[in-house]
Amino acid sequence: MPQVLDRIQIGMVVNGESVTIMAPSTATLLDVLRNGLELTGTKYGCGEGECGACSVLLDGRVVNSCLVLAVECEGSKVLTIEGLESNGQLHPIQKAFVDYGAVQCGFCTPGMIMAAYALLESNPAPTEDEVKRGLEGNLCRCTGYQKIIEAILSLAVRGADDV
Ligand code: FES
Ligand code: FES
Repeated sequence: MPQVLDRIQIGMVVNGESVTIMAPSTATLLDVLRNGLELTGTKYGCGEGECGACSVLLDGRVVNSCLVLAVECEGSKVLTIEGLESNGQLHPIQKAFVDYGAVQCGFCTPGMIMAAYALLESNPAPTEDEVKRGLEGNLCRCTGYQKIIEAILSLAVRGADDV
């Protein structure tokens, strides 16, 4: 007899829009974002909470979406990299990453930017050490981190939303 996957209805607000999806009880938030909602900006790297490529904001807190079950997100607000762009304009953090050459292969970039967003929301003027601590959960194999740090510091005195 074929196995019937139990699918559960989950309602959440993703990038400001209410969505209702049916997903297996074992689906992660990352699965639902990428496969259910086709928000593929959030990346699957390690799947084990080690690389940060899957970072999104869940109720304002940065999380590794590969470690969060989608059912746990019922009623929550999720912000992904797609939610930062506004009226076709890059968010200032995205723009700073481009301007400072902080993107090479780009695989880590969405997660880095979401971590930077969370950092600047909670601390609009971080020091270099605070930026480094804020990015501790995000790995980059290309840039050596310095340009990423410089990009974030360029926004530091002004904050994430009012630049
Ligand atoms: S894919 Fe989630 S931390 Fe690496
Ligand atoms: S730019 Fe390639 S992993 Fe960071």
